[in-house]
Amino acid sequence: MDRASFGSKIGAILAAAGSAVGLGNIWRFPYEAGNHGGAAFILIYLACVFIMGMPIMIAEFTVGRRAKASTGRAFGLLANNSKWNFIGMLGVLAGLLILGYYSVVAGWTLEYIIASVTNGFADKTPEDFVAAFQTFSQDPIRPVIWLLAFLFFTHFIVVKGVKDGIEKSAKIMMPVLFILIVVLAICSMTLPNASKGLEFLLKPDFSKVNADVFLGAMGQAFFSLSLGMGCLSTYASYFGSDTRLGKTALSVGVIDTFVAILAGLIIFPAAFSVGIQPDAGPSLIFITLPNVFQQAFGGIPFLAMIFSLLFYVLLALAALTSTISLHEVVTAYLNERFKIGRNRAAMLVTGFCIVTGILSSLSLGAWDAKFFSLSFFDLLDFVTAKLMLPLGGLLVCLFVGWYLKRSVSYEELTNYGLQKATYFPIYMFILRYFAPIAITLIFVNELGWLS
Ligand code: PHE
Repeated sequence: MDRASFGSKIGAILAAAGSAVGLGNIWRFPYEAGNHGGAAFILIYLACVFIMGMPIMIAEFTVGRRAKASTGRAFGLLANNSKWNFIGMLGVLAGLLILGYYSVVAGWTLEYIIASVTNGFADKTPEDFVAAFQTFSQDPIRPVIWLLAFLFFTHFIVVKGVKDGIEKSAKIMMPVLFILIVVLAICSMTLPNASKGLEFLLKPDFSKVNADVFLGAMGQAFFSLSLGMGCLSTYASYFGSDTRLGKTALSVGVIDTFVAILAGLIIFPAAFSVGIQPDAGPSLIFITLPNVFQQAFGGIPFLAMIFSLLFYVLLALAALTSTISLHEVVTAYLNERFKIGRNRAAMLVTGFCIVTGILSSLSLGAWDAKFFSLSFFDLLDFVTAKLMLPLGGLLVCLFVGWYLKRSVSYEELTNYGLQKATYFPIYMFILRYFAPIAITLIFVNELGWLS
């Protein structure tokens, strides 16, 4: 079977950036930063992205492009021993679990698209937005319908074969998303009282830094960059031989970080302006953003409508390029490993996620079971982002750093000696020592064994 590939280098970058940029940047980053005290968290997050995330992303690219197989099989192929497939399998499982709760939030964006069009944001107070979100997210039916719709879109594109779809849509969507988010950040920063939000975002208070902050920042870095579960290594199996792995990773990291910081510049000034606590949790953007639209363009309802519509459409599309990448990891694995058609494989994935998705959605309202004092939704988020992804990242470091031949890594990084990779020794040092030790310390610290 001929393996599909992306058509161009820029297409490869944008597809990988499409996976990385998503709800993680615009929804999860602001509330994690809000919960963990703001600026100090962000600094630790940036360190995690650039010191640990970039090398691990290059390592994942190396595994995928070298093996030319989806992540569930790539490690076994490279090691010539299928036992190593457990690393990829862990990723496949993490992908399934993330998709289960991610699509719930992705579904919410659809509700907000409709609310924008029907002008559901006009003449409302901040309290109304809080109440509206709570009523909606705790409803047993509406969010479930949106969740199903979102999974259906994802399924449809994955079944069609994502290559053309992903690459093309990413090329159009990413620049538009970028422009919109800049415009909105400017609007948000001109709201009354916005400076308090800026201060929260820019003035670090290190007295708030504890073990949780480190684990939160590391988990967010993995989640936002789509690392630790073989998503980007599956995409790298579609990279051409002239795609430069280091340059691609750096571009994805910079784009992803930029979008997250800009999202912070939108959310925090807006939250402080309307008196909403920045640690409101997962509801944060669904409460603050309608307020921004309302207040910034309140005098001109049509403009408010257009902006909110555009924003939620883009949020939905950004989420879609991420859900596609999550779905693709599992579908490609089932397809390659068990030789079942893409259609069938995708159906199994979608079926599974419908079940976990419905459970996550209900766990925010009707179903009040708690697991380690977390709802099912929060449990999935915690187990994947804070445990499975960093663990997956650690295993990739050990595999590429210690097990895979150094010459293989060097060949991949230099495109078979055609290019230079002067950063190679630092890269190897981080993979072999720095990242594994840092990840382990953060885990151990969280368990309280260091204090
Ligand atoms: N990176 C995506 C986001 O920020 C989420 C994601 C995680 C996608 C892991 C794929 C794999 O929204």
